[in-house]
Amino acid sequence: MQKQTPDQPRSTETSVKATPLVPQASLYDVEQIRRDANEAIDKGPVTADYPLDLHQAYKLLNQALASEILCVLRYRHHQIVAKGIDNPQVADEFEEHAEDEQRHMMMIATRIDQLGGDPDLNPATIAERSATKYGKSCSLGDMIKEDLVEERVVIEIYRRLIAWFGTGDPTTRRMFESILKDEEDHANDLANLLSSVNVKCAPQG
Ligand SMILES: [Fe+2]
Ligand SMILES: [Fe+2]
Repeated sequence: MQKQTPDQPRSTETSVKATPLVPQASLYDVEQIRRDANEAIDKGPVTADYPLDLHQAYKLLNQALASEILCVLRYRHHQIVAKGIDNPQVADEFEEHAEDEQRHMMMIATRIDQLGGDPDLNPATIAERSATKYGKSCSLGDMIKEDLVEERVVIEIYRRLIAWFGTGDPTTRRMFESILKDEEDHANDLANLLSSVNVKCAPQG
């Protein structure tokens, strides 16, 4: 066996060199950020590093706004008509959904404004910008079916919008995530209602 001398390191010890402290590259240049912030104060919360195409963002948001407006109108119509055909429980459900859609409408319109765009409430172009339809229902069953289809349309579109806004605009993404949850709840309510209501006639052309 090799004899260990006091000068030699013990075999169980490892010679660990201290890692020198390397200064980290700065995450941001605060002076540059301050200069940018001072330059365009009229843009409110939209800072120089906003990474998405703002015009595309306005377009997508205005399409979603138009879809919500048509949903408000369709549910309000269904709410009134369902009362007329003596089904207060379904009418209450339609009313609740109409109020949610109206809240979504205001959330989206407010967000467009925050991003420096113009929330387009022009009635002349709402139908063509909307992904949802107003509908032509003639019975309770058809109304519920129609609403369910439109909910399923917005669910798919909002999922895509969530992906598009992604990490670039987390505020808008979270807004759509919260709206998406409501739309999924609506679709679920309608699917349950549909199973309890007879479809009595085909839609009128
Ligand atoms: Fe909605
Ligand atoms: Fe909905």
